[in-house]
Amino acid sequence: MADLVIRNLHARIADSDQEILRGIDLEISKGEIHAVMGPNGSGKSTLSHVLMGHPGYEVTDGEVLFEGQDLLELEVDERARLGLFLCFQYPYTIPGVSVASFLRTAVNAHRKGGPEGTGEPIRIPEFRKKLQANMELLKIDRSMSSRYLNEGFSGGEKKRLEILQLGMLEPKLAILDETDSGLDIDALRVVADGVNHYAGPNMGVLLITHYQRILNYITPDFVHVLVGGRIVRSGGAELAHELEKTGYTGVVPQEV
Ligand SMILES: Nc1ncnc2c1ncn2[C@@H]1O[C@H](COP(=O)(O)OP(=O)(O)O)[C@@H](O)[C@H]1O
Ligand SMILES: [Mg+2]
Repeated sequence: MADLVIRNLHARIADSDQEILRGIDLEISKGEIHAVMGPNGSGKSTLSHVLMGHPGYEVTDGEVLFEGQDLLELEVDERARLGLFLCFQYPYTIPGVSVASFLRTAVNAHRKGGPEGTGEPIRIPEFRKKLQANMELLKIDRSMSSRYLNEGFSGGEKKRLEILQLGMLEPKLAILDETDSGLDIDALRVVADGVNHYAGPNMGVLLITHYQRILNYITPDFVHVLVGGRIVRSGGAELAHELEKTGYTGVVPQEV
């Protein structure tokens, strides 16, 4: 069985009748990169929020299993400790909390009851070493670690920080929602290089994007087209190139 199994997932915004996800089937295993592409409003962010347990959404049918466990039963922090990671489309600012201290808190929260099972906080020298190695890899200036989280960060800096967080937490499944939006080409490359570096046999990636652009730098194993809350087509990396030429109308069956 795949690590993440989504079966017939239906979801709506809490306290509304409007169904946004209308029967999603998707399986992702570690070592695989899946891109989900779709026009604005098709339900891409809803899918990532439902997977992470955002309280604003309600699952009305279907199931989601992660390593055989019913993910939908779990609280947000439990999902994170299981190894799920979500990069937000719109990262938040935490004034007064430095990047380094935020990351150390996040790493320690993961260790508590996490797969390492030690419950012991990471030792400071070990943390510093790991942080430095990851910052170098992502070409993040050293001074950034003492700045306050996202305060006054440019779009590109915020995205780099998200990828840094990913590198520090080493999730089993990384969900990247529109990580390419608002990035100039250099920042896009850094983010893509980071994802390519961290992707590997121990991590699966769900890359959610409206645009094909980031897929010039990250080659997905599978591409899925999400329209109207359903996956209307799946294929390999070539499907993304086809979409670029034809637009979504070209690949979507007429009745959708
Ligand atoms: N919290 C919300 N309140 C009201 N409408 C929402 C909310 N979240 C999503 N929607 C609606 O659900 C649909 C899907 O949104 P979303 O999942 O954000 O799409 P995408 O990420 O593909 O652009 C849109 O029509 C959007 O307006
Ligand atoms: Mg979105």
